[in-house]
Amino acid sequence: MRTIQTSASILSADMCNLEAVVHMLEQSGTDMLHFDVMDGRFVNNISFGIPVLSAIRKKTDLFLDIHLMIADPLQYAARFAHAGANGITFHLESESDPQKTIDAIHACGIPAGIVIKPMTPAEAVLPYLPSVEMVLVMTVEPGFGGQAFLWDMLEKVRFLHRAAKEQGLHTIIQVDGGINAETAPAAVEAGADNLVVGSYLFRQENPKMVIDFLHQLSENKK
Ligand code: DX5
Ligand code: ZN
Repeated sequence: MRTIQTSASILSADMCNLEAVVHMLEQSGTDMLHFDVMDGRFVNNISFGIPVLSAIRKKTDLFLDIHLMIADPLQYAARFAHAGANGITFHLESESDPQKTIDAIHACGIPAGIVIKPMTPAEAVLPYLPSVEMVLVMTVEPGFGGQAFLWDMLEKVRFLHRAAKEQGLHTIIQVDGGINAETAPAAVEAGADNLVVGSYLFRQENPKMVIDFLHQLSENKK
């Protein structure tokens, strides 16, 4: 049995009450807090960055899972690490050299992950698969919460899950975008280990029920 982990994206949370949000996420039992950084260049939106991360770090011991949707992750990786990141993922489509960026993240003593957008083939990750702890398959176009899950992405999850297994790697496959009660079981079935959940979590009265539901998908995992 494999264990399914959750990473709660605060992109859809109440930004005026982040301390309460962080406290609520601690109570929910989520494994990670997912922190979406957007620079208005790599994606068509701007979210939050280093000062907000430092502020959250002071309030919680939760694993802070940083998703960099920025043009030059190599330039900023160490600063996010020093601000309190427990893990950093960055886009293969960014302007930075992927291996140098992985090495820069590892040099800070934290795990590194590569993210691919919906139009990027899963094969593009293969050269870096042995070097990363996580691969994030975007199941929506990055930039905004609340979008519909792209079912075609499950094929990429299946491919990468199989590739890691064949190489004897324990790479975590994460999915991000449109995760809900209908899409999460399919993502897990395809081989996802870690589910980012944003708007679905914050729409519910009881976020703990959502996290419990996602965790129990572990039982069904082959
Ligand atoms: C989108 C972000 C996601 C987003 C997910 O660019 O990377 O993490 O917050 O939100 P939902 O779960 O609402 O699709
Ligand atoms: Zn994200």
